[in-house]
Amino acid sequence: MKKYRGIFVKNDAEIEIMRKAGGIVAEILDELEKAVRPGVKTMAFENLALQMCEDFKVRPAFKGYLGYPFALCCSVNEEVVHGFPSERELKEGDIVSFDMGVVYNGFYGDSARTIPVGEVSPDVARLLDVTEKSLYAGIEMARAEANLYDISLAVQKYVESQGYFVVRRFVGHGIGRSLHEKPEVPNFVPSGAGVVALKPGMTLAIEPMVTVGGPEVEILADKWTAVTKDRSLAAHFEHTVVITNDGPKILSRRPEA
Ligand code: MF3
Ligand code: CO
Repeated sequence: MKKYRGIFVKNDAEIEIMRKAGGIVAEILDELEKAVRPGVKTMAFENLALQMCEDFKVRPAFKGYLGYPFALCCSVNEEVVHGFPSERELKEGDIVSFDMGVVYNGFYGDSARTIPVGEVSPDVARLLDVTEKSLYAGIEMARAEANLYDISLAVQKYVESQGYFVVRRFVGHGIGRSLHEKPEVPNFVPSGAGVVALKPGMTLAIEPMVTVGGPEVEILADKWTAVTKDRSLAAHFEHTVVITNDGPKILSRRPEA
């Protein structure tokens, strides 16, 4: 595969495979979202995700990745990312983040969204809205000849203008034949950030993680679940995106009927 400054550039055929992978992820997330209601154990979503991977004949990307034990990351309330599906029951007013990845024909798709459980308070709804909009603000900057850190800046500026915080411990990433490729895609402008020119055919997973109380996170004793240090709420939205001469295209969307 062609590389530009260490970043893989995919050809059109490869992009179509990634669009298929991303489309499957979108269909799985849609089904998970439909199943969200008070009283559901989060393990039910894992089972649904596994079943759909079987139906689509794809491999769940996260299961076994660095020892991660599940197909799905399922993070509730103050859990930021990498939460384990469990016997925990969702309750009215919770928020639940689903992060799902699949491998189709050798290429990865990766996407996440945070879903309200029943009715949530207006404050909580605003957190979800701002986090999702910050993802779209970042995607908007994923353009040929733009700087990678224009994405970071757009996400960070929007989130902070709304009084929330971006998590720094985890970042977005290049994606393709591996789940994580160069470059890292931070949701903030790192100190000393230079210029990383974006080129058509580069594929990025952009994934803002946004919190109410502060940027710090800690990892629970299970070695995976990241929670906010102050246990304030956190939200996470992610899309797999390709840079084209015609602007950014989201690959993790369900195919049009
Ligand atoms: N979307 C996450 C990521 O980009 C999901 C990884 S979970 C893991 O890293 F278990 F696979 F690490
Ligand atoms: Co990701």
